Amino acid sequence: MGKIILTGDRPTGRLHLGHYVGSLRRRVELQNSGEFEKIFIMIADAQALTDNADNPEKVRQNVIEVALDYLSAGLDPERSTLFVQSQVPQLCELAFYYMNLVTVQRLQRNPTVKAEIQLRGFSENTAEGDTTQRQGIPAGFFTYPISQAADITAFGATTVPAGEDQEPMIEQTREIVHKFNSTYGPTLVEPEILLPDNAACMRLPGTDGKAKMSKSLGNCIYLSDTADEVKKKVMGMYTDPDHLRVEDPGKVEGNTVFTYLDAFCRPEHFAAYLPEYASLDELKAHYRRGGLGDVKVKRLLIAVLNEVLDPIRERRRHYEARIGEVYAMLEEGSRKAREAAAATLDDVREAMKINYFDDKELIAAQTQAFAEKIKNQE
Ligand code: TRP
Repeated sequence: MGKIILTGDRPTGRLHLGHYVGSLRRRVELQNSGEFEKIFIMIADAQALTDNADNPEKVRQNVIEVALDYLSAGLDPERSTLFVQSQVPQLCELAFYYMNLVTVQRLQRNPTVKAEIQLRGFSENTAEGDTTQRQGIPAGFFTYPISQAADITAFGATTVPAGEDQEPMIEQTREIVHKFNSTYGPTLVEPEILLPDNAACMRLPGTDGKAKMSKSLGNCIYLSDTADEVKKKVMGMYTDPDHLRVEDPGKVEGNTVFTYLDAFCRPEHFAAYLPEYASLDELKAHYRRGGLGDVKVKRLLIAVLNEVLDPIRERRRHYEARIGEVYAMLEEGSRKAREAAAATLDDVREAMKINYFDDKELIAAQTQAFAEKIKNQE
């Protein structure tokens, strides 16, 4: 059986370098490897609405931004099906059946959901009179891991390239698959997560050194940032606060500029931009010894980032002039996605025996049972 990819992003903002090294770059490589029978990339607008019910306009405006980011990063609609979640109603149907296979207690234990409840201020155990956090947890938000299981299994995905924050979702999906298959017979495919292969890519910090890039913290470098914006952001980046003078020995661990170099720098970049060093290890050793200033390292990072981002910017300019075509591409992708999901739904209904009208045996058996009843009454 061929391998199938499904993954996606919530359209709540433009995509940034954290998305890029965490998953997007990998998707493009996987797409170009030709190893996969099918690739589905989903703009998860319905999931975005689970915690943005009051701001649908934000989601609506960002569908195109994410589509542009996908195309700019090198996803190719000829080889990957790009689609919009809300346009595939089969996903809701599937999620509704899965709800019966998951307990409220199990959902409450999902670490990603737990963390997001805190982050969004949805927490229900707040002091009385606390008006900021009294809204409670929307049921749709609480159950989004189930909807995510539907996203993945509807396409028979074997492989989900994603960041480590998605691990609890894949785990929960696998549990649902087991439960479904053991209850109704083997029907669904069990997916595996494909994590980034290097620690820096796993969790790229923000430019301020904080754990994660996040729009609300204002510490992101976006794929759509100009060269000038990137330069400004890198020059203002968090390094080693104790590395005051060039001669001081510096720390590389927890130094954001070096973390970014770990994620982006390749040996050939040294020949091109900093030929006095042979490798990142040599540069790090010099920084640790002392005598290497932050600005020099930052200049290297700017050059490396622009080398990565230039072709992305160029493709974005191309597609920004063709918004109608991009929507048409998403519409066609959504049509293909509906077709694939509908085929899975046929299998699911058959396994659950809720395919009444196709079930000739059921109709024949009941016809006979009622005929006997009528006969006995005569
Ligand atoms: N949860 C993902 C995010 O926050 C988006 C998403 C929805 C997704 N469904 C998915 C990712 C299925 C992978 C597989 O960005």
